[in-house]
Amino acid sequence: MNHEQLLDSFLMLLCRLFSNRRLYFSQHGKIKEQSKQIAVGLKNLFDASREDTLFIGVADGNLVHRGQVLTGPSITGARLIQFAEALRCGGFIFSRQTDAEEIERLADLTATVKDVASLEDGRRLLKAQGIQHIELANPYNAQDDADSDKVWSGREATIGALYSPAHLYQSLYDVVNNAFDGAGRGHAIDILGAQSVSEHLLRHTRTHFCDTMQKVHYPDFDTYTVGHCVRVAALAVYTGMSMGFADKMLLQIGTAALLHDVGKSRIPSEIVHKRGALDEEEYRAMKLHPALGLEILLEHDHATDLDRAAAWGHHIRHDGKGYPLQPAWATRHPITALLQVCDVFEALTAIRPYKKAKNPTESYQIMLEDKGGFHPGILAQFIRALGLYPPGNTVKLSDGRQAKVMTASRFINRPGVLITHDEDGYELEDDDTIYCDLSDPAFANISISELRVEEVV
Ligand SMILES: [Fe+2]
Ligand SMILES: [Fe+2]
Repeated sequence: MNHEQLLDSFLMLLCRLFSNRRLYFSQHGKIKEQSKQIAVGLKNLFDASREDTLFIGVADGNLVHRGQVLTGPSITGARLIQFAEALRCGGFIFSRQTDAEEIERLADLTATVKDVASLEDGRRLLKAQGIQHIELANPYNAQDDADSDKVWSGREATIGALYSPAHLYQSLYDVVNNAFDGAGRGHAIDILGAQSVSEHLLRHTRTHFCDTMQKVHYPDFDTYTVGHCVRVAALAVYTGMSMGFADKMLLQIGTAALLHDVGKSRIPSEIVHKRGALDEEEYRAMKLHPALGLEILLEHDHATDLDRAAAWGHHIRHDGKGYPLQPAWATRHPITALLQVCDVFEALTAIRPYKKAKNPTESYQIMLEDKGGFHPGILAQFIRALGLYPPGNTVKLSDGRQAKVMTASRFINRPGVLITHDEDGYELEDDDTIYCDLSDPAFANISISELRVEEVV
């Protein structure tokens, strides 16, 4: 067997062992025998590669080895992926000394482990189990990857370590969800957590805005408020970048956006998550959320003035109408005006319990026709930043091919796209997808003929 086959069979056996361990008790003959087999497989792998460690990475739901995604094993290796995610690590580093007993103990752990709070806790758990020759790897850091040609080895220390889009989304989700949950029950909310996650959002938005917008779908109606806050934050940071704000300001914008609707945590959930239009009384209750948000954030020393201004003022229109009532002496912070634009745009383009999504062009139209609704300069900048076909959307090209919008460009109707399907609708292999910056004259013969709004069920 060559190295690839040895690796495939090692991973397959390991995942089968993990599955079996759920069915059989720890000292069962079957478990012992399989663990031995795996230890032999591992030894053969080391002999074939002449290396002393074997690193199997887990990033964004895939198994990775030597910088390559292992497509086949990623499907059969779901148990290993879940296990790594539960331990908050970026995979496993096996060393040559790993024996059958340690593999058996690792399998024991898969059967009992619940999600740990941090990678450090995961490492402690392994140690407590007496596992010395299998190490938990640091999570994947896309930043490292972009900065150097080095292949991810799982050894570099990463700070925060949340750069995989799935992890980032999870942490954004956790922060907003905890803020809602905590504030709703009168507990303190983790403002510092929101600030640190906003930092990850900023880094990620720079290179992967399209992913963020795509990943953040609403898994169910109960979580749409959280999804909404995350998408508003991504939109605000992205637009803020195009407006040339410094990083420090962008971080503050991201945090304020993540927390803007925190007042909803004090509105009865039957109203916030109602599946139909709100009646008059319910609407009146809902309109209290900006003032409640301000109240919550005033109780937190770490909250900034911008967080408070945004929570209080994001439903006030440019002409001063909207809610709450704006005192005559109050002036609106321009960032609140930006968040208001992002908030409305997100609400129009998202599926809500009571309505279907509008496409971005229709949404722009509605917003442009609402005279006095928005700060005109900020709305114009928002549209310019996102373009008519915002990143994350699917479009049909004039030659019949299908593409995914990756980045906006200096022309609002000619973004950078990745061609993913041929003219007959067949999906292209990853290696065959082509990136075209439609603002480049070289692609003057191609244009976008249709925006396809993805059906989110
Ligand atoms: Fe709101
Ligand atoms: Fe909102």
